[in-house]
Amino acid sequence: MNDGRDVVIRCRGVVKAFENGRLRALDGVDLDIGAGEFVAIMGPSGCGKSTLLNLISALDQPDDGEIEVAGHDLRSHRHLNHFRARDIGLVFQLDNLLPGLTVRENVEVPMYGQGLSARQRHARAMQLLSFVGIEDRAAARPPELSGGERQRVAIARALANGPGVILADEPTGRLDSATSGKVLDLLESLRRNQGATVVVVTHDPAVAARADRVIRMLDGRVVEDGSNPRPAVPAAPDARP
Ligand SMILES: Nc1ncnc2c1ncn2[C@@H]1O[C@H](COP(=O)(O)OP(=O)(O)O)[C@@H](O)[C@H]1O
Ligand SMILES: [Mg+2]
Repeated sequence: MNDGRDVVIRCRGVVKAFENGRLRALDGVDLDIGAGEFVAIMGPSGCGKSTLLNLISALDQPDDGEIEVAGHDLRSHRHLNHFRARDIGLVFQLDNLLPGLTVRENVEVPMYGQGLSARQRHARAMQLLSFVGIEDRAAARPPELSGGERQRVAIARALANGPGVILADEPTGRLDSATSGKVLDLLESLRRNQGATVVVVTHDPAVAARADRVIRMLDGRVVEDGSNPRPAVPAAPDARP
């Protein structure tokens, strides 16, 4: 990341230990991710990928080091819930949708407390569901959907408040290749059409091949950080919600 773009995610000397310090899940991570980058993080199971995403999204705190996201120093930030809701969109391998709510209601959950009326929440949720291509499933409940459909709802929910940063932890891990291709198209279009910064943790070389930068981790450290030699994907027509 040396092309002069604004740095959106900055990690300096980030350490995170578990089991009373015996297990160093992150052992001094330094990382700069620029605005609008599409970054894949790879590495063997247990190397610290999810721990890193959890710290960047302020779901957990480092034992040492600094993390700055979208201009917020997470150490001194007092409104972490607000930060998470507004600035970060999170997508997990397991979609974490609430099974008792409809698809539309699930997408509305992060919008509460953001000053929108019920009518505005409803309209925005429908817009996002149409963006991810499943507005016809708005009234269904998550257990009635396929894995790919659920993951698209999870992406719509992650976009609820128009975050500048999307963090996805193995979002295609449980999907077949055709479905994961669609999920990737969607993540790519966010970067392309909305300038979002997208960070995807993945085991899947097909995902990494579409990123413009691949970061490899091992034993809690970044061991390789290179831009992807593949040419950039040409711009597509507007797909904004
Ligand atoms: N909450 C936790 N308590 C104890 N150990 C944890 C916890 N979270 C992660 N770890 C450990 O930290 C290491 C890194 O885990 P993780 O970040 O989940 O790896 P990855 O996502 O790369 O598979 C692993 O050894 C894991 O067992
Ligand atoms: Mg993980």
